[in-house]
Amino acid sequence: MNSAELYENRNSSQFNDSASVLNQFKSKLQWQDNETIMDVGCGPGNVTAKLLQPLVPNDARIIGVDISPNMVEHAQKKYGNKNLHFCTLDFGSENIRQMFELESFSKIFSFYCLHWIQNQRRSIENVRSLLKPNGTALIVIVVHSPLFTVYKAMSKLAEWEPYMKDVDRFITPYQEVENPCDEYRALLQNSGFRVSDCFAKDSPVDAPTFDFLKESLRAVNPFLSRMPKNLQAKHMSDLMDIVIENNMIEIEGSGGKLTYIQPNRVVVALCQKNP
Ligand SMILES: C[S@@+](CC[C@H](N)C(=O)[O-])C[C@H]1O[C@@H](n2cnc3c(N)ncnc32)[C@H](O)[C@@H]1O
Repeated sequence: MNSAELYENRNSSQFNDSASVLNQFKSKLQWQDNETIMDVGCGPGNVTAKLLQPLVPNDARIIGVDISPNMVEHAQKKYGNKNLHFCTLDFGSENIRQMFELESFSKIFSFYCLHWIQNQRRSIENVRSLLKPNGTALIVIVVHSPLFTVYKAMSKLAEWEPYMKDVDRFITPYQEVENPCDEYRALLQNSGFRVSDCFAKDSPVDAPTFDFLKESLRAVNPFLSRMPKNLQAKHMSDLMDIVIENNMIEIEGSGGKLTYIQPNRVVVALCQKNP
């Protein structure tokens, strides 16, 4: 993930999808007094502040966590308030309990983040260890993206291979899984959750023009910061060529208006921790 500012200006796809998921599930969320809530992988904080905070009772406290210090600094500066705080945390880490008291959150939300953690079991164990008994988790993970196919193809090219040796770390572990929803449901159940909803759906990319899409993809490209500045533009231009060759998009006219984009596929899960 690159600059928080750039990501915030280009995350309308994730923002709109998180809004639609929250809208779908808000009637199923039961609220008590003085809840403590976590948003895992909060990024620049706009989803936490603009979608989550308006949904929770006024006395609820929300903590947004993210592995990226840049994201957290941006989020705290722009959106931090008396009931909304942001801090740095690697949610894939074994030592999560050293930072937060066990069983101290009544709800955990996570949008478009937990698929970044290759050890999926640990990510869910961490959710479980922080949730109170009967606490609720609402999770959206990416299970397939045409962009990851593009990363894989680029990582085999001599020019980009040196910067993309660990490409698999940045690809959802479900990319080649036939029934990711079944696998995720089983993971949740085996980790001590009752799963009330778990389904897969398309999550269309909201990018009206070619240039907007290019900027959106630049915002989430984890390899750019590893290469010299003079190669970054060439990398993005090669990436967009492969996007076109892979039929991810069709471009209309010279204005670069997009008429079709292969969607990402996500799994959405709502579950409760067994007491
Ligand atoms: C695609 S962004 C999603 C941001 C926000 N939730 C949204 O929906 O717009 C994914 C975020 O997950 C964070 N992330 C990736 N791995 C993480 C980890 N191990 N622990 C915590 N956050 C992580 C990234 O830094 C990034 O900000």
